[in-house]
Amino acid sequence: MTVAKPLPHESARLHVTGAARYTDDIPAPKGCLHLAFGLSDVARGTLDALNVDAVRAAPGVVTVLTAQDLDPMPDCSPSLHDEPLLCTREIHYAGQPLYLVIADSHLNARRAARLHEATLTQGDAILTVEQALKAESWFDGGPRVWTDGDVEAALAKSPHRLTGQIEIGGQEHFYLEGQAALAVPSEAGEMHVLTSTQHPTEIQHKVADALGVPMHAVRSEVRRMGGGFGGKESQGNALAIASAIAARLTGRACRMRYDRDDDFVVTGKRHDFRIAYEVGHDEAGRVLAVKFRHWTRCGWAQDLSLPVADRAMLHADNAYDIPAMSIESWRLRTNTQSATAFRGFGGPQGMLGIERVMDHVAHAVGRDPLEVRRANFYADAGGNVGASGGDISETKKTGRTHYGQEVTDFCLGDITARLAESCDYAGRRARVAEWNAANDVLKRGIALTPVKFGISFTLTHLNQAGALVHVYADGSIHLNHGGTEMGQGLHSKVAQVAADRFGCDMARVKVTATDTAKVPNTSATAASSGADLNGMAVKAACDTIRDRIAVFLAEAHQADPATVVFAGDAVTVGGESYPFEKAAAMAYAGRVSLSSTGFYATPDISWDREAGQGRPFYYFAYGAACSEVVIDTLTGENRILRTDILHDAGASLNPALDIGQVEGGFVQGAGWLTTEELVWDEAGRLRTHAPATYKIPCASDVPPVFNVTLWEGENREDTIYRSKAVGEPPFMHGISVLMALSDAVASCGKSYPDLHAPATAECILQTVRATS
Ligand code: MTE
Ligand code: MOS
Repeated sequence: MTVAKPLPHESARLHVTGAARYTDDIPAPKGCLHLAFGLSDVARGTLDALNVDAVRAAPGVVTVLTAQDLDPMPDCSPSLHDEPLLCTREIHYAGQPLYLVIADSHLNARRAARLHEATLTQGDAILTVEQALKAESWFDGGPRVWTDGDVEAALAKSPHRLTGQIEIGGQEHFYLEGQAALAVPSEAGEMHVLTSTQHPTEIQHKVADALGVPMHAVRSEVRRMGGGFGGKESQGNALAIASAIAARLTGRACRMRYDRDDDFVVTGKRHDFRIAYEVGHDEAGRVLAVKFRHWTRCGWAQDLSLPVADRAMLHADNAYDIPAMSIESWRLRTNTQSATAFRGFGGPQGMLGIERVMDHVAHAVGRDPLEVRRANFYADAGGNVGASGGDISETKKTGRTHYGQEVTDFCLGDITARLAESCDYAGRRARVAEWNAANDVLKRGIALTPVKFGISFTLTHLNQAGALVHVYADGSIHLNHGGTEMGQGLHSKVAQVAADRFGCDMARVKVTATDTAKVPNTSATAASSGADLNGMAVKAACDTIRDRIAVFLAEAHQADPATVVFAGDAVTVGGESYPFEKAAAMAYAGRVSLSSTGFYATPDISWDREAGQGRPFYYFAYGAACSEVVIDTLTGENRILRTDILHDAGASLNPALDIGQVEGGFVQGAGWLTTEELVWDEAGRLRTHAPATYKIPCASDVPPVFNVTLWEGENREDTIYRSKAVGEPPFMHGISVLMALSDAVASCGKSYPDLHAPATAECILQTVRATS
């Protein structure tokens, strides 16, 4: 077996020796030119005139393209036609590309891109939620509202009610490798584009559109990314389009990469949210009804904002069976970077809303937050309501979400019970209370929070994948599929699947660069579905070839093909065993096709986005995290002391990679909610655009005690080897840190601390003062 093994990442050696090649490491073709955008430094206005004489005259500049030079103006949007490559007249945000410099070096292009003179009329930038609402500036024609049950009546009947609001900041992806593209022109208008993208087909499509050629004339390729995290689903379009246009114009290869500051200023980030809630609950803390309102700043263009805001709504229940719920979601159009996909795709924000509600309710009824959470859980799939603490309330569980999907695989009753025990939640909660009683300055807090995350693209047709497998006559295997590698280990998992199907050694299998010429019409590697979808497609392709070899060898041995065994790097038939390469050579000599495609489409899902009803998710991934923190009430400084996580990856394809995903996801989630703060000034300029001002977690921020365990279970649905998607769900374990910080602050006073996110040191200090 090559699956279920903790094998190292297929590129681990290349990563750590620096030999792994990223887009910008590809040696420059002869005569390669370099590009840079000249950017707007105002957030809103009209560009009345643009003088680029000095740009043209700058050293090394080959040519400069402005909006006048591009007709029609290429569009970069993945959704609507609302993202012109260059500003045509209306300026939408500070950082918007105004013109494109083509020069002989990266530095010359960048230096020249500052020398323009823009004549413009400045307008009033729409930056805040209030400003957007006042200006009626939004997407989707107004708020989207989903209602499940008679919320008003349920609120009115509830013995207790409370209201509150939480501000949730955005997040910069801070992939270590910035956005990059390289376009190499070929004969007859064909273009080969190499990019750092999670979505090669989107690049192919947008470049073909920009060049006015069919998709077959554009080949889009990606070897790997140095991190994507959702930031490379659509945000690479502009660089690829610019490179391709410049390559066609000059007949030379053209490449482009954003410097870190430009990457911050130009590209979209996680959506920030404001979530208001009105809750009805009983004495025991059982939530009877919730009314949510979401306001999210989407930035200047639509991009993926609608499905992101939808996914926030879809996760408004998280792990809780709430009898009546309504959500009103406003997708606000603002003069800022166009907010985009980021690990969790809106799910984390929606989930944080209900986690805040649970915490607030627990505070109000004076019960342990974990007890309140468990009382509100869906029932475990085994029917084990008791494990979910269903005894403390009379209210019946519905077993279905607010969007009508039956929850049939729930296991958080069990997961949280086991985690609470293994990390000694009860004992430590008592010790935290003792500590806080004895210490005035340093206060501790602890929280155990659950995650239930829906797996599948909500745009149902995206849940498909293809693969292409060749077995060569020497027994080596070339594997290609529609997914991209961004560090998550997808290629490793998929290679494990292939090796397992052929019963051969991993060393035989080579996953080659993702390439639209090999597997067409791919979906973005996103929604954590990479291994689910591509693993199945690869399995189908491998099985086709394997069965052909089996039939051929069985015939030669007058045996039943079903008795041919592929195992131990050999093929055994009729009592004879051939080394795998010998079997391949024989099949080749026997004129057996040793190449096949494979295809997979997720079954049984359907979704009506307008009505907010259906089964958008094939299944749910689960997990729980317990974090303990300490805060300094005089400075707001804080630290995570310990985190324990129990996470459900189904029957893991590769436990080493999955634990890596859980650890990395948690740390990234904790960073989002604590230190990572995006600040725009009053003119709409992003002031935090480099590591000097924007603080991502570093190695020393990882909890000193950090226990990550995979839950032993398998997917109830028929996924690849019964595994579960693992890319995004662990990100939301970071919520345990915010809730632990909130718990620490709560020990400073009587009122419920309205701790917002990110809970920076300043924010904690202010909240401590407001609470005491
Ligand atoms: N892990 C690493 N190391 N780098 C990344 O960029 N992206 C995350 C997650 N884990 C990411 C990562 C996001 S946003 C998603 S959707 C999934 O990986 C995508 O890969 P998968 O579908 O193969 O899990
Ligand atoms: Mo991940 S946000 O779905 O790329």
